Amino acid sequence: MPRQNPKILVFAGSTRGGSFNAQLAALVTKKLALRDVDVTQISLADYEMPLYNGDLEQESGPPEAAVKLHKLFSTHQGIFIASPEYNASITPLLKNTIDWVSRVKPAPGAGSAFKKRVFAIGAASNGYYGGMRSLLQIRHVLEIGLGATVIPEQISVPGAATAFTDLGDLEAERSRAMLDAMLTRFIEEAERYVRA
Ligand SMILES: Cc1cc2nc3c(=O)[nH]c(=O)nc-3n(C[C@H](O)[C@H](O)[C@H](O)COP(=O)(O)O)c2cc1C
Repeated sequence: MPRQNPKILVFAGSTRGGSFNAQLAALVTKKLALRDVDVTQISLADYEMPLYNGDLEQESGPPEAAVKLHKLFSTHQGIFIASPEYNASITPLLKNTIDWVSRVKPAPGAGSAFKKRVFAIGAASNGYYGGMRSLLQIRHVLEIGLGATVIPEQISVPGAATAFTDLGDLEAERSRAMLDAMLTRFIEEAERYVRA
């Protein structure tokens, strides 16, 4: 049977102009495309949502952007999220987005947008820890909160202001190796869901 490329969605948990995490997301997108993956990078700036509020949900249901994002999640076998660390934790943008998407009811016969696909996570920060502490929190939300599968390999980029080359690759050999190991496992796992 001919190999079918896995479909992977990539986005950053920051919409800041010049975001290091958007840079990391772009690098992952480029590397996945070079490995025969059908990859789509989006910006959460195109999926604006109000801050979650139960009354709002009661009145009008999840916002259109959450419904669209839910559909996108559901049509990809892999999802990579690059997100900053805020006070050792997940950004409000990413948490709010995940919370709203988790409130979208799947179409009849379809499962949760967080299951039957694989997640990989990364963080870039100008600090010493490279956003490592937020990765623990993101993993917690996805795995414990939503029952998602998140691969153990992850990428964290410390000293982000000088970590990228002019061409957008990672300067440090150690970081490049970390990213390659993550991508190899990520693609292998996403391919399982193509065949499922
Ligand atoms: C409210 C706030 C809290 C932050 N806390 C941390 C932190 O705990 N650890 C860290 O490495 N950087 C922290 N930062 C710095 C961010 O990592 C930095 O702004 C980063 O560039 C944001 O990611 P971006 O470039 O993708 O927008 C914090 C920034 C903000 C605004």
